Amino acid sequence: MERKPLIAGNWKMHKTLADAREFAGAFAAGPDEWPGVDVVVCPPFTALAALQEAFEGSAVMLGAQDMFYEKQGAYTGEISGSMLQDLSCRFVIVGHSERREFIREMDEFIGLKVHAALIQGLTPILCVGENLKQREQGKALGFVRGQVEKALVDLSSAEMGGVVIAYEPIWAIGTGKTATSEEAERMCQAIRMTVAGMAGGVAQEMRILYGGSVNKENIAELMREPNIDGALVGGASLKAAEFRGIIEQAR
Ligand code: 13P
Repeated sequence: MERKPLIAGNWKMHKTLADAREFAGAFAAGPDEWPGVDVVVCPPFTALAALQEAFEGSAVMLGAQDMFYEKQGAYTGEISGSMLQDLSCRFVIVGHSERREFIREMDEFIGLKVHAALIQGLTPILCVGENLKQREQGKALGFVRGQVEKALVDLSSAEMGGVVIAYEPIWAIGTGKTATSEEAERMCQAIRMTVAGMAGGVAQEMRILYGGSVNKENIAELMREPNIDGALVGGASLKAAEFRGIIEQAR
């Protein structure tokens, strides 16, 4: 089963509007710039409109870093999937470990968002991953499996095929410590098997990404693994030249 590689940049809480415009200027790409790989940039909400304009007609797709699960209503501070669609977003990150930690997002809540994203026509990038303690105690595999099951439990098999999962071990995020490609592969394979247990053959269509200190030096080795279909890139997606280097290496 051929799965199209996906390289997504998560800017987190970085870049003013001026910074975002400067990045877009340096990252300008034609519509056929990277055949065979999907490229997504996920800026803060505040930069989406400017990037919608800047990336129109280019090979760069837009994603958001979060969304709420209701379509509209009295939910102060929240953003719905249809609002993201207005800004030409095709993807949305859901359940990033930073939101699980700092905003206290729970699996059930994350599951509602995954479902809402699909219903509202967006591709959710569901983030999962263990912390250092869980890893040292040998609990990583069970923990990550649980995260996947709890977030996907209410989806039909067909819906699950439309989800992207990003395995991001927390100890590798922003630390410069990458999981070895073998470690990352083992977990991505386990994630695929977990989805296969829930949804059967659809698991072979699902794209599974690795995230955590990805850069242009380590991406090629990670991408060589059979169950790693791309990367969710944090720090290295902030610089146009570095991010472009990752995409080139991924191809
Ligand atoms: P870094 O690439 O900065 O380690 O961040 C990874 C990440 O959290 C992407 O969502």
